Amino acid sequence: MNRILILVALLFSFTGTMQAQENAEIVVNAEHKIAPIQPTMWGVFFEDINLGADGGMYAELVKNRSFEFSKPLMGWKTEGKVKEGNFLVINRGLESEKNPRFLRVSTESATKGSLGITNEGFRGMGIKKDLQYDFSVWYRQPVKGLIMHLELLSDNGETMGSAVFTPESTNEWKQGGVSLKAASTFAKGQFRIWFEGNGQIDLDMISLFPTDTWKGRKGGLRADMVQMLADMKPGFIRFPGGCIVEGHDLGVRYQWKKTIGPVEQRQQIINRWNTEFAHRPTPDYFQTFGLGFLEYFQMAEDMGAEALPILNCGMACQFNTAEVVPLSQMQPYVQDALDLIEFANGDATTQWGKIRIALGHPSPFNLKYIGVGNENWGPQYVERLKIFTKAIKEKYPTIKIVNSSGTDPEGERFEYLNKELRNMGADIIDEHYYRRPEWFLSNAGRYDSYDRKGSKVFAGEYAAQSDKTVSVNNRNNWLTAMAEAAFLTGLERNAEVVHMASYAPLFAHVDGWQWTPDLIWVDNLKVYGTPNYYVQKLFSTNRGTHVVEITSKKQALTGKDSLYASAVLDEDKSELILKIVNASGNQVERNLNIKGAKRKDTSPKMLVLKSDDLNTVNSIDAPMTVAPVESVMKSKGPKMKLLLAPQSLTVVRIALKQ
Ligand code: AHR
Repeated sequence: MNRILILVALLFSFTGTMQAQENAEIVVNAEHKIAPIQPTMWGVFFEDINLGADGGMYAELVKNRSFEFSKPLMGWKTEGKVKEGNFLVINRGLESEKNPRFLRVSTESATKGSLGITNEGFRGMGIKKDLQYDFSVWYRQPVKGLIMHLELLSDNGETMGSAVFTPESTNEWKQGGVSLKAASTFAKGQFRIWFEGNGQIDLDMISLFPTDTWKGRKGGLRADMVQMLADMKPGFIRFPGGCIVEGHDLGVRYQWKKTIGPVEQRQQIINRWNTEFAHRPTPDYFQTFGLGFLEYFQMAEDMGAEALPILNCGMACQFNTAEVVPLSQMQPYVQDALDLIEFANGDATTQWGKIRIALGHPSPFNLKYIGVGNENWGPQYVERLKIFTKAIKEKYPTIKIVNSSGTDPEGERFEYLNKELRNMGADIIDEHYYRRPEWFLSNAGRYDSYDRKGSKVFAGEYAAQSDKTVSVNNRNNWLTAMAEAAFLTGLERNAEVVHMASYAPLFAHVDGWQWTPDLIWVDNLKVYGTPNYYVQKLFSTNRGTHVVEITSKKQALTGKDSLYASAVLDEDKSELILKIVNASGNQVERNLNIKGAKRKDTSPKMLVLKSDDLNTVNSIDAPMTVAPVESVMKSKGPKMKLLLAPQSLTVVRIALKQ
């Protein structure tokens, strides 16, 4: 009896071992290059939402610098013994349509401390010890008489930096400024101006910029935020959104021509995220366009990324007013697209090329992509898109046009558009997915059946929602990031079809957000990447040049045994790069069988992103709780053993013999 039991046990263990061995192999066929990975494969999606631009990446510290908010003194507080008429907001209307308001200050024997104004910044001002801050102002003071005492105020209102600005006498508007140095670091500072003397002065564009901007550009961008993007080595930058392109109504749609040239001439409008969510109202959210189209192009150029501007297609946001422009009146909209291409690529003989050159950028930006419409849908979209496509292709046949497939990755709207756009021969179709993690985990095979020859896909906006779309309870936790990683292996395996991908939204200010989850969070001084950021970064910095086959039991790894995988060759570096997600709670061991290539070294590099707790998040104070950990694998001989940690994304870089 015992013998029989032992035999049965042995038999079981033998078949078990056979099965385990069979299961335990992942095969990579490095010989067969399925398709090139586009340099644009992994990019970023930028929108001025959650204080992404104003109050965020655009480094201006003064809120409502030109008194153009709906409430002209929002963000400002008057100080001292204020009498009737000391401060007057004047609207010069037609004389300066783009920037009509300014502040008139009238004083009588004012002394330092008796009459002033304080700006609260965007949720305070982040100020750094020993850094220089550039104050500037447009002013008009017919008779010399006033002096301005400038003060950087700490979180508790102490003066931590000061300077004196003495305006000249001038009947015309004139710009002046002075610099201040900060004596300490504080996250929620303010900026105060005391007036001294007798007289009257008109003030506009009261501005304060740190000098440590991205590439040291005056009036530029917050370097730490831009650096986070640069670190991703993005293949493209999509801008300026997002729903912001469409506008709540057509009157406040995004118009690129109004975002270039001197900042005091960029006409400010309300940000659509000011009023979008009743549960997250942001009454002080406006668009100064200090970060405008030239700066977007420049940022893409700085990073070696393709610029991907998205333009309004003649439709306002269909979640809001859903206004459409009559087909007979589409010309100015289409002209904006044609002029934008000329602005980016034209030489000095062209109208818009000349404007770009005059703005200080002589060389063309070599724009290759343009998007028409954001989340627009229905036959109204198709009708308008056709008008754009005809005009753009006639004049610029090589420009690739990105088309919208609406708001969702399935359903009637999507099916209708996907069919129509493919029939129209769309270059690239933009798909959006804001879905639960389960959706991402079960859709790693989404593109396996897509037509290889037809329109290409831009996974233009995605983010796994730990709760549900637009819920304030959504968290950038490891579960969402891991689910996205699993899905991204599916995008990469299908690089023949998917040419671009970007997470959305990109930035959020911890004290000023409307929408969560978001890839990168900031406060006034610090920035941190979410686990989702590190997933994106691992994919984009390990992009490779060609996708190759990776299988287990001759099947792509799309979730069976909780495993997901993609493999790419990096021909430039002669490396094979594997990305494997183990979504199970157990460590998984697999033999790796590389066919068609020989390993060069016995110590491949491994980058592992993982957490035992799926709820883990990063934060301002603990920014690297979930972050990639690098190690070197020790493995001799042709076969390698892969140990995949529970709930992990593992990237393996294997040097190959040439
Ligand atoms: O990313 C946030 C918003 O989500 C975008 O503005 C819009 O395109 C989508 O609905």
